[in-house]
Amino acid sequence: MLAELTHRCPLACPYCSNPLALEERANELTAATWSRVFREAAALGVLQVHLSGGEPAARRDLEAIVSAAHDAGLYTNLITSAVGLDGERLARLRAAGLDHVQLSLQDVTADSADRIAGYAGAHERKLTLARSAPDLGLALTVNVVIHRANISNVSALVDLAVALGAGRIEIAHAQYYGWALRNRLALMPTRDQVAHAMQEMEDIRARFGQRIAIDMVVPDYYARQPKACMGGWGRRSLNVTPSGRVLPCHAAETIPGLDFWSVHEHALADIWQSSPAFQAFRGTTWMREPCRSCVMREVDFGGCRCQAMALAGDPTATDPACELSPVHALLGELAEQDAASGETDYAYRGRPTRRRNEQKVTLRH
Ligand code: SF4
Ligand code: FES
Repeated sequence: MLAELTHRCPLACPYCSNPLALEERANELTAATWSRVFREAAALGVLQVHLSGGEPAARRDLEAIVSAAHDAGLYTNLITSAVGLDGERLARLRAAGLDHVQLSLQDVTADSADRIAGYAGAHERKLTLARSAPDLGLALTVNVVIHRANISNVSALVDLAVALGAGRIEIAHAQYYGWALRNRLALMPTRDQVAHAMQEMEDIRARFGQRIAIDMVVPDYYARQPKACMGGWGRRSLNVTPSGRVLPCHAAETIPGLDFWSVHEHALADIWQSSPAFQAFRGTTWMREPCRSCVMREVDFGGCRCQAMALAGDPTATDPACELSPVHALLGELAEQDAASGETDYAYRGRPTRRRNEQKVTLRH
C-alpha cells in the first residue's frame, strides 16, 4: 500500500507523479484515521506500507503515523526527499518503528541535482541523511528518476548510491503522466542515450554482481512491450491519497468517469473488493482486441491504463507501448521529436508554465 500522507513538498521535480491539482493540508487524513486504515490494511493482507507524498516529513505527526503502521504489523518504508528530515528526527522515526528509507537523488552533482529538484541545497541534505541511515540500522534504497539531463550519469549514480550504503537502487525512467507529461519536451532522452544507458547497466550489473540489487525500468516510449503496470490493475497494490480516496494507481484520477471510494465512507476491504474504480480494469474481461486474445494478457495485463488514456485518449485501448497497438510507431516518432527539441526549461509546480512546454500529446492514427 502506498500511503500519500500529504501533497506538500519543498521540491518541485519536473516529473512529479502527484496530480496537477494538489490536495489541501486541511483535507489530509489525521494520524488517528491513518491508524485505522493501517489496521484495516493489515487485516486485508497488506504487508508493506510506503509512506509517501509530497514530502511525508512535512507532517509534524509523522512519528505517530509510523508508530501506527508499525503497531498494525506493517513493514514501513519512508519515501523521502530528505528535506525536512535530519539525523535526529530519523532516529525518532526509527524508534517509532521505521524499517526502511527510500531516498530520491536527482543527479550526481549538486548543481544539476538542485536545478532538477528546483531547490537549492537539497542534494547536500540528501547525502547527509543517507549517511546516517545505516548507522541507525535502517535499510536504504536510493531511487533515481532518469531523463535527458541525467541519463549520461547512470554509472556515476550507482557508484554514489553504493558509497552511501544503499542495499538497493531503483533507476526508473520518468513516467509521462501529470508533471512529466507537461515537461516531456525537456525530459525525453534520445534513442541512442537510452541504448547507451541500457548497455551501461549491463556493465554495472557485472561489476557489482549480487552486492547490490539494481532495478532498471526502461522508458515506455522506446519499448516494444508494455510493463505490467502496478502488477495489474487492482491485483496487488492500492494507493490512498492524502484526503483518503483509494486508487488502483497513483495516476488513476487522470482517467475520467471512475468512481473512487474514500476511507471516510468505506472500509478498505470493501473498497478493494467492490469499488467501481478497482473493478473497472481488474482481470482481463474489460479488454478489447488485440489484448483479449493475446498470450501476454495475464502477464502484462494490457500494460498501463493511464498511459492508454493519456496517449490514445481511451483507457480501454492497448497500451501504445505495445508494438501491436495501432499507434505504437507514432510513439517512438514522438519521443524522437521531443528528444531533438533541445528544450531545457522545466515547468515547475507553483511557477508559471512557459507556453512552449505545453504540447499536444494524444496520438492519432
Ligand atoms: Fe500486452 Fe495487449 Fe500488447 Fe498483448 S496486445 S502484449 S496483452 S498490451
Ligand atoms: Fe495507472 Fe499505469 S499508472 S495503470
